[in-house]
Amino acid sequence: MVSVRDVEEAGRRIAGRVRHTPVATVEAAAFGTPVPVTLKLELFQHTGSFKVRGAFNRMLAAAARAEVPRVVAASGGNHGLAVAYAARALGMPAEVFVPETIAPVKVTKLRTFGAAVTVTGRYYADAYEASARRAAETGALVVHAYDHPEVVAGQGTVGQELADQAPDLDTVLVAVGGGGLLAGIVTALDGRARVVAVEPDRVPTLHRALAAGGPVEVEVGGLTADSLGARRIGELAYRVAAGARVRSLLVTEDAVVAARQRLWDELHVAAEHGGAAALAALTSGAYRPAAGERVGVVVCGSNTDPADLIRR
Ligand SMILES: Cc1ncc(COP(=O)(O)O)c(C=O)c1O
Repeated sequence: MVSVRDVEEAGRRIAGRVRHTPVATVEAAAFGTPVPVTLKLELFQHTGSFKVRGAFNRMLAAAARAEVPRVVAASGGNHGLAVAYAARALGMPAEVFVPETIAPVKVTKLRTFGAAVTVTGRYYADAYEASARRAAETGALVVHAYDHPEVVAGQGTVGQELADQAPDLDTVLVAVGGGGLLAGIVTALDGRARVVAVEPDRVPTLHRALAAGGPVEVEVGGLTADSLGARRIGELAYRVAAGARVRSLLVTEDAVVAARQRLWDELHVAAEHGGAAALAALTSGAYRPAAGERVGVVVCGSNTDPADLIRR
């Protein structure tokens, strides 16, 4: 499992390599929410998502233990960008396997970081199998996208930072794919605020797992599949979420689209669909805060083509 200490250690290990991202508290009227909302603008992170935190932590921790000749990762896009970015910074060759459903903006950006990119299969799970075969052939370090304690601890630094920036939050809404971000934030906050998981109804990995009593495979599809499209929740994330009695709320695709548009209209913040999913819980009413509840939302990704946001 992962502890608060692991998150603190990760924070020290990756300090100076990742950005301390800002928070903005937005009045209730702006988003039409019952209460003001504190946004953790993690989409301003290097490569456009929190994923560099886990990638750096995993790669630096492994390099401190032994020589790391090369790294390999599978990703819907953002994790691959993060691994490629971290590998370039640390001077490690990287190979990244991505599925055909990857957003074109992500492949273009990925190639600029100098990683070897292989596009294979339809979904993340297909890319993962290809990456595992490659790692077995080459002996490369596998940097898992979510189900590894060092990755989870790295993602937890988002929660650690948020707790310092907004110590009075009652609730934090977090989007879930494989659950690394959620597990990290739950661990980092350690009961200081309630964490609520948010998933698109097209990819309910945690929701189904909590109902079934363990991780199960779900069908993957829809607009958020390239960021939240893990076919099953990570074992670690499941254990952390079940242990902390985290609730998983489902939001529709329309709600995600509307929340993403709202972020643009009010703040000129261009989030990708997965990055707007947590806010969608609040703006759609899937999450109903109590009067006076202090709510935080992690806006976790920006790798999107913003053309459809601009109203002409
Ligand atoms: C923008 C964005 N948000 C959320 C997630 C979900 O993260 P996790 O797989 O750790 O649940 C991802 C995963 O790629 C992502 O790219």
